[in-house]
Amino acid sequence: MITTQDLRMRFSDGTAIRYDDLRFEDGKSYALLGASGCGKTTLLNLLAGILIPAEGDIQIDGQSTSGWTQKARDAYRIAHIGCIFQDFKLLEEMTVADNINLLRLEGVDVSGMDALLDRLGILRLKRRRVRRLSGGEKQRVAIARALIKRPALILADEPTGNLNFETGEAVVAQLIENMGSGTLITVTHDDRLAPRFNCVMDMNAVAHFEFGREADARA
Ligand SMILES: Nc1ncnc2c1ncn2[C@@H]1O[C@H](COP(=O)(O)OP(=O)(O)OP(=O)(O)O)[C@@H](O)[C@H]1O
Ligand SMILES: [Mg+2]
Repeated sequence: MITTQDLRMRFSDGTAIRYDDLRFEDGKSYALLGASGCGKTTLLNLLAGILIPAEGDIQIDGQSTSGWTQKARDAYRIAHIGCIFQDFKLLEEMTVADNINLLRLEGVDVSGMDALLDRLGILRLKRRRVRRLSGGEKQRVAIARALIKRPALILADEPTGNLNFETGEAVVAQLIENMGSGTLITVTHDDRLAPRFNCVMDMNAVAHFEFGREADARA
């Protein structure tokens, strides 16, 4: 289980985002909805240990992460978190297979690659360079790369953003099917997909902005 306490992110321009205390349970899927700019990607980056909170704590199974070094955060992410980024972060000049094979350098067992690519409908693209794929195909490669390590936590930022509704629905079904006993947290703009998830969070109500002097005074 992942919980947050008094979590606050502050950017260099003084803008801060404060999040209400959150709780993500094992084996459950969460949809994060909310207006553009309300703080969805920022929350995923905090949970992934990519951004460091200015204040507050993220606890994993009751254990505080606030004292963790960046190296410890990176190691935890590599071992236990599957990230699907809004802009994919794939290596465009490499093939689909090599984007996934690269994870072997981090100790990930990629022996289930063909079966996973097949389930996602992209096995025939295995030897193709990512640069030559469509947006929706790249999205599914990013999903395969995140799922191959059977992560305890899947963080997916708009994984259906480039897909039509039917394909998007199928991708969400794949994510839910593959999450196992872990936790899935998915940002989506499409509230038609919300019923697929165990829990829907309206981030407009959960994330609060603090600007200028108010934010400075807290610093
Ligand atoms: N590095 C930064 N410096 C200053 N402000 C930032 C920075 N990164 C994000 N922000 C601001 O924080 C707010 C939240 O950004 P975030 O990317 O989390 O939004 P989002 O909910 O993911 O939006 P979208 O749906 O468009 O992806 C925005 O107002 C954004 O301008
Ligand atoms: Mg975003």
